[in-house]
Amino acid sequence: EQAGKGEYDHFMLKEIHEQPTSLAQAIEGRIDPENGRIALDGFEPGAFEEIDSVQLIACGTSYHAALYGSLALNQAGVESTALLANEYSVAAPPVDEDTLVIAVTQSGETADTLNALRQAKSEGADTLTVTNVVGSTAAREADDALFIRAGPEIGVAATKTFSSQAVMLTLLAQRIADDAAGEPAADLEALLPDLAAMPEQIEGILADSDAEWIASRYQDSRSYFFIGRGLGYPVALEGALKFKEITYEHAEGFASGELKHGPLALVTPETPVFAVFTGEEDEKTLKNAEEAQTRGAPVVAVCPDDHRAVEVADAHLEIPETDPDLAGLLANVQLQLVSYYAADLLDRPIDKPRNLAKSVTVE
Ligand code: G6P
Repeated sequence: EQAGKGEYDHFMLKEIHEQPTSLAQAIEGRIDPENGRIALDGFEPGAFEEIDSVQLIACGTSYHAALYGSLALNQAGVESTALLANEYSVAAPPVDEDTLVIAVTQSGETADTLNALRQAKSEGADTLTVTNVVGSTAAREADDALFIRAGPEIGVAATKTFSSQAVMLTLLAQRIADDAAGEPAADLEALLPDLAAMPEQIEGILADSDAEWIASRYQDSRSYFFIGRGLGYPVALEGALKFKEITYEHAEGFASGELKHGPLALVTPETPVFAVFTGEEDEKTLKNAEEAQTRGAPVVAVCPDDHRAVEVADAHLEIPETDPDLAGLLANVQLQLVSYYAADLLDRPIDKPRNLAKSVTVE
């Protein structure tokens, strides 16, 4: 097992460091050099023309990627919603043949997700899975499959598969919007150079992150909060999930604007707040972070170096400038590192957290 980890102490850290490669693989060949549009194997131009709404179903970390994809779709003008697969049987909105239901599942074997997929299929929806495993049950049972090509992920806490799912869904969102409009989505031109730059930007974050220092600075806290807005919201949820999974410390993610609607009652000097800035109404997120800071909470801003939040915050995790569609994924790398180092300081069994399994094949 040690051999498989190479120079790293844990698979999780190795997999965090593999993201420049796994993301390059997720993107490779999926942008048509001729016309700069999204090309997906098995999907002819216009393949999604008839789709009028999208439901994304998933569990755990994949649900956060699904939420990311759903927001990307909505922002691109396509009606969509993300649903927890284990709630689908009691909460699914109606479907018809113009509904695309996307099962987002790293393993392709999660029982809750497969059940929801089967339900959607039996009710007549068009189905697609976004998965890492070729030949998995989800890949076989859905009408179509898109593979994220992240390579095997051994650490129970999902890292590189989350970023690859989110990128795959970002591409898919653009493509569905394109097909629906019958012309290239305006957003895409701005996004492509930043997408191409992302693997190298992540290399930069990995080479020079303050995450280890920040993890040790706040290691005696009572609870850890993560806030974000827009695409920063699923990233905040994922930041908190990762943190609780591997440190066993209490952590919660909130939409920035929700802090004042309840969670603020929990805020004290012992509850650091990690604030993710994606360039979507950042001034509002900063105000929300300052409301926590006024109550004594240290604020860790995850944002570019020249961002106004840096002056206000107690600590800073730097991300390079990029498109708002991708900024959250750069922030996510910093948050993965914070969780990893916090868990390492506590000497937790990082790759195999207690009570958790890589793939849950029971309902
Ligand atoms: C388990 C894992 C999570 C994962 C979830 C969904 O609970 O511990 O890390 O996000 O299953 O897995 P999937 O394979 O469907 O993405």
